[in-house]
Amino acid sequence: MSLHNIANFPRLELLGSPTPLEHLPRLSDYLGRDIFIKRDDVTPVALGGNKLRKLEFLVADALRAGADVLLTAGAIQSNHVRQTAAVAAKLGLKCVALLENPIGTTAENYLHNGNRLLLELMNTEIVMVDALHAPDVQLEQQATLLEAQGFRPYTIPVGGSNALGALGYVDCAQEIAHQSEGVVDFAAVVVASGSAGTHAGLAVGLEHLLPDTELVGVTVSRKIADQLPKVDKIRHELARSLEMVSSAPVTLWDDYFAPRYGEPNEEGMEAVKLLARLEGIFLDPVYTGKAMAGLIDGISQNRFRREGPIVFIHTGGAPALFAYR
Ligand SMILES: Cc1ncc(COP(=O)(O)O)c(C=O)c1O
Repeated sequence: MSLHNIANFPRLELLGSPTPLEHLPRLSDYLGRDIFIKRDDVTPVALGGNKLRKLEFLVADALRAGADVLLTAGAIQSNHVRQTAAVAAKLGLKCVALLENPIGTTAENYLHNGNRLLLELMNTEIVMVDALHAPDVQLEQQATLLEAQGFRPYTIPVGGSNALGALGYVDCAQEIAHQSEGVVDFAAVVVASGSAGTHAGLAVGLEHLLPDTELVGVTVSRKIADQLPKVDKIRHELARSLEMVSSAPVTLWDDYFAPRYGEPNEEGMEAVKLLARLEGIFLDPVYTGKAMAGLIDGISQNRFRREGPIVFIHTGGAPALFAYR
């Protein structure tokens, strides 16, 4: 199986062991459907989250290139920036982050608490920008500035989402396939689809390992017409890098992210409370709450292709709860 080509990519071991795949008995009773959860919210660095899997490959590449700075970008409450900064700290690298305020809020907690507080503790160098209107260009300009100061920056795109980072979620698909083998036949996997690397990696992995399992990406930032090209670009580049093809149709649901990226909605916050009260698990207001709202509505509207258990990928984000108080 060509997924084994993943072993050809340099990798910095950060995860240590597979994340748990758990059954959620009380949520399952409540929804009348067996729900499992893949606990990528408890990856072992800096309060966890999905970015660590991507960083295993991205940071290995940075070290190979001799970088002394990890440069990236995101929202003030970015979980990606928090995890990148933590890996930089662990390795004794400098971390520089371009940050935007995507919802234009002046709320104290958003500006200073949650993930932003953790950046402060890690001494991350912050460059505030009005908007990340062209993040790749803005990152390139910042890299040039850093080089002029004598640094060797390695640029990690928004969300760690390129073909290299997405390898981390091919790996996650392999874990899910191993952990479920002979135990449970998943009808569907549900994941938040943002900068799209997580979704794209799972798409490539699951297409080959669990072809009868439907993968649903619940968008958190944009409508399908804008999200689909993002998922497709990364999954085709990723598949090419593994010398394989990915041709399965991509399923996206875009009914759950309104009013916009970074702004909570009622259904998402209800899902956050539901998981906290039934299972003692914390989702987040920006990504996983909205994705779980999609899962719940998908069941009630019969949107899944077939009956059977569903696994929700918990991609993390709970530190942002404190920012949205
Ligand atoms: C908690 C959380 N869930 C989901 C995502 C979305 O993952 P991706 O950007 O790979 O689509 C992110 C990305 O920032 C995140 O922080």
